Amino acid sequence: MTNRVALIAGNWKMNLDHQQAIALVQKLAWSLKDAGHDYSTAEVVVFPPFTDIRSVQNLIDADKFELGLGAQDLSKFDNGAYTGEVSGAFLSKLAVDYVLVGHSERRTYHNEDDVTIQAKTAAAFRHGLVPVICVGETLEELESQGAAAVPIRQTIAALAGHEALGDFVIAYEPVWAIGTGKVATPEEAASVCGKIRAAIAEEHGAEIADKTRILYGGSVKAANVAGFLRSPEVDGVLVGGASLDADEFSGIARFQKHLAL
Ligand code: 13P
Repeated sequence: MTNRVALIAGNWKMNLDHQQAIALVQKLAWSLKDAGHDYSTAEVVVFPPFTDIRSVQNLIDADKFELGLGAQDLSKFDNGAYTGEVSGAFLSKLAVDYVLVGHSERRTYHNEDDVTIQAKTAAAFRHGLVPVICVGETLEELESQGAAAVPIRQTIAALAGHEALGDFVIAYEPVWAIGTGKVATPEEAASVCGKIRAAIAEEHGAEIADKTRILYGGSVKAANVAGFLRSPEVDGVLVGGASLDADEFSGIARFQKHLAL
């Protein structure tokens, strides 16, 4: 066992307007409360679209929910003439804790490369946000280079060249497993997460590698989550589709219930 607190992260992607967001967060918080969820053993964080963040923040604040708040992206710039961009400064003013950086959908549809992702990681550090740096290989890369090569290269690139590293999280999401229903086996996920940790240790030292949480993502559901989290190498999950259903996501957050089975 490690002393890293599990992180259960729900990436809503471009789903749910602010009213739907309020309904989902209320239902999720109550479902976890009813189940007596212990947030000190598994942190639960939602990543709504930008337009929902203020409403979700107000709700978390007013009802004293223990849920964490994340954003799905941020600008590499702090302010200025960058139409459509959102500054990390604005996110941190809204009490956002985490921000996804380099999700494969941003890499694919918005041409984000390792240089951009490194700059966004730096922006997150500047504004006191914890970047959740997403890495993962496509099917072709899996076949030509094996599972770990691309995620390791992407991890090292995102973490290079910072004056000091703030806290960060790595999310290993094989592109072939996102939204496809095809899931990496727990052994495959654990093996890649372990290799990413070893690469971080080599580059930045054992202390940083030991405290860093490395998540698995890609078609995670309540029914398969325990398999991933059984391995000490996997410190949590980044969930897409299944995070849009309060009962299902609450079931994922309560993975400990299944661990003993
Ligand atoms: P799915 O859980 O829908 O496969 O999405 C994974 C993901 O991309 C989370 O960021």
